[in-house]
Amino acid sequence: AALTAATAMAQGYPEKPISIVVPFTAGGPTDKVARDFAEALRKPLNNQSVVIDNVGGAGGTLGAAKVAKAAPDGYTLLLHHIGMATSPALYRNMPYKTLEDFEYVGMINEVPMTVIGRSTLPAASYGELTKWLEANKGKINLANAGLGSASHLCGLLFQQSLKIDMTTVPYKGTAPAMNDLLGGQVDIMCDQTTNTTSQVEAGKVRAYAVTTTKRLTTPAYAKLPTLDEAGMKGFNVSIWHGLYAPKGTPKAVLDKLNAALKTALNDADFAKRQEALGAVIVHDARNNPADHKKFVEAEINKWGPVIKAAGQYAD
Ligand code: MLT
Repeated sequence: AALTAATAMAQGYPEKPISIVVPFTAGGPTDKVARDFAEALRKPLNNQSVVIDNVGGAGGTLGAAKVAKAAPDGYTLLLHHIGMATSPALYRNMPYKTLEDFEYVGMINEVPMTVIGRSTLPAASYGELTKWLEANKGKINLANAGLGSASHLCGLLFQQSLKIDMTTVPYKGTAPAMNDLLGGQVDIMCDQTTNTTSQVEAGKVRAYAVTTTKRLTTPAYAKLPTLDEAGMKGFNVSIWHGLYAPKGTPKAVLDKLNAALKTALNDADFAKRQEALGAVIVHDARNNPADHKKFVEAEINKWGPVIKAAGQYAD
């Protein structure tokens, strides 16, 4: 029987460069995961080039929307994080439907977050930080990457737990946010270790606590309390990343991408880089499309009510 066009196309796939959209600015935590992952993904795809396309804005929803509307041919993919689950609760007019408009290719990693402050903050420990926050209510600038970002979610939960409202300063990613924190223009931020580790190790920002329920082994954070043990009972935020394709991408292409994802996650180089940045590679059923999608649906149901309770809408 004549090969259908889709089957023929899938057999030759990939025969041109693949673009992975990162919905935040270059140099940030999502971008770092994506560039390392793209390098590992290239190898099992006959060394076809995999390029990163940074599309920032609207807490990651602009970049995700670009992929939802792209041709379903396997040449435009999305690498995104927990924002896939939080954005639906923050935007009344979402430009895409998270569970309907994408094919789920598989989960990649989970990244802890840490609460950091400008180096000039007169607080050397988490205890001193909360005292400073109490004493400076109404004058605190908290940086994040917009509604739908990981730094927004963590910052929101942090403010709710402390019952201290802070002025939010949004950026198109936590890379530019970090620049202003380094310059002292903002006071505090909750960001992923993929972006904070080098700055903390260089002593350019102060680190106060981590957002996972287990302390981190990375030397830069080993002495820091978890927010859970420091008094925010049950605080547990870890930023997961996954790979997505537009709905309708041929199954044969998705199968090739899922196989390449699994190979990439076992790449020694990728593993070493992820370890150095405090990220934990996902090696479980969520590497499979069905379980990846089920997990995201569960996360939408978990975070939606929490965020809706804050009543913060971006539109
Ligand atoms: C980034 O890559 O800039 C971050 O993921 C932003 C965020 O989600 O906090």
